[in-house]
Amino acid sequence: MAKLTVRDLNLRDKRVFVRVDYNVPMEEKDGQMVINDDTRIKETLPTLSLLIQQGAKLILASHLGRPKGKREPSMSLRPVAAKLADLLGCAVAFVDDCIGDKAEKTALALKPGDVLLLENVRYYSEEEANDAVFSEKLAKTAEAYVNDAFGSAHRAHASTEGVARVVAQRGGPCAAGLLMERELKFLGEELDKPARPFVVILGGAKVSDKIQVIDRLLEKADTILIGGAMAYTFRLAQGHEIGKSLVETDKTEVAKSALAKAQARRVQFLLPTDDVIANPVKTDKLDKKGKPVIEWQNVRVNSELNGPKDAAGLDVGPATVKTYREVVLEAKTILWNGPMGLFEDARFAEGTFAVARAVAQATQQNGAKSIIGGGDSVKALNQAKLGKQVTFMSTGGGASLEFLEGKVLPGVAALTDK
Ligand code: 3PG
Ligand code: MG
Repeated sequence: MAKLTVRDLNLRDKRVFVRVDYNVPMEEKDGQMVINDDTRIKETLPTLSLLIQQGAKLILASHLGRPKGKREPSMSLRPVAAKLADLLGCAVAFVDDCIGDKAEKTALALKPGDVLLLENVRYYSEEEANDAVFSEKLAKTAEAYVNDAFGSAHRAHASTEGVARVVAQRGGPCAAGLLMERELKFLGEELDKPARPFVVILGGAKVSDKIQVIDRLLEKADTILIGGAMAYTFRLAQGHEIGKSLVETDKTEVAKSALAKAQARRVQFLLPTDDVIANPVKTDKLDKKGKPVIEWQNVRVNSELNGPKDAAGLDVGPATVKTYREVVLEAKTILWNGPMGLFEDARFAEGTFAVARAVAQATQQNGAKSIIGGGDSVKALNQAKLGKQVTFMSTGGGASLEFLEGKVLPGVAALTDK
């Protein structure tokens, strides 16, 4: 059902609780947290500018990271307030709490067009519990609710769901922001009636993460191209040797039924025919999670469907790249989610970057509509400097996957029907 959007409203003089997704990647540099990628902040500017123009009083709320109910200083939104002020070109007030006296007083003192950013809502465990009392506290001064946090819309938390209910009970409007509206348009409407051929490219580590998406897209797509480690679960299901490749041995039946469904529905379902493999060698070094760092040695192309016992597949090979590229260049609608290999390592990046180039070319030269389902594919496109050459890049990771699975997102469901 169509939802109210900010364009349907005039929120002059109203205090508007705006849920944004400022869960941006950060890094510590010289004792300070700095933002690595401000895409999610930039993408909310159209909504914020519209509300500012309308003369609304903006109370922005977001989570950052997973502090699990604790005041984790490295997950403070304070640096985001400074960044937002830069990008908006106006002052952004910041309160180091999201509820309580100080937050309320500052909200009540806002003038039309003023912007306030509250501290991380996940400093309270009640946020993720979608606690009713906490929602009331968050919504204390709000007269309207706007959700522009598509990336968090799959969470039924206080700021994404509970606050909307409180505001609605008071008779206030609950509307989608412009970013939320765009995400729903591209990942929803545009893929419901795609121009054909409709080609879907799915990658990433696990079949289990993508199986529901595969199942749903098998009902819509003309071709599905598979890459990433999840290809090895399919290979195993087909009876091939996969050596030391990442695999989900308990998901081969799931893979088999996807292959059967593809055949029954006459969907072209392509798996890699060659790959780039290497031998894993454990080192003494530990990664951020405390696991031993693996070094990859003896990198080579494997043109067999069976891989050697001592090696793992880390990227699709050149023959696969060639085939996938040809298919992508024929497409009129493209959906891409998930990298083709371990693209963080330059030796295993070519498959992912070649797909990125093909998707950009199909869009620019053939007029294909290309929709990128968030997460690592967006990162890869940006690394290849091709982000501006596709039709749409989602700001959601988990949210875009759940939406593509056909799930109702709680953050959307809570908004006022038109
Ligand atoms: C994300 O980046 O996936 C969203 O901001 C939601 O965060 P979460 O996965 O910690 O709920
Ligand atoms: Mg997530």
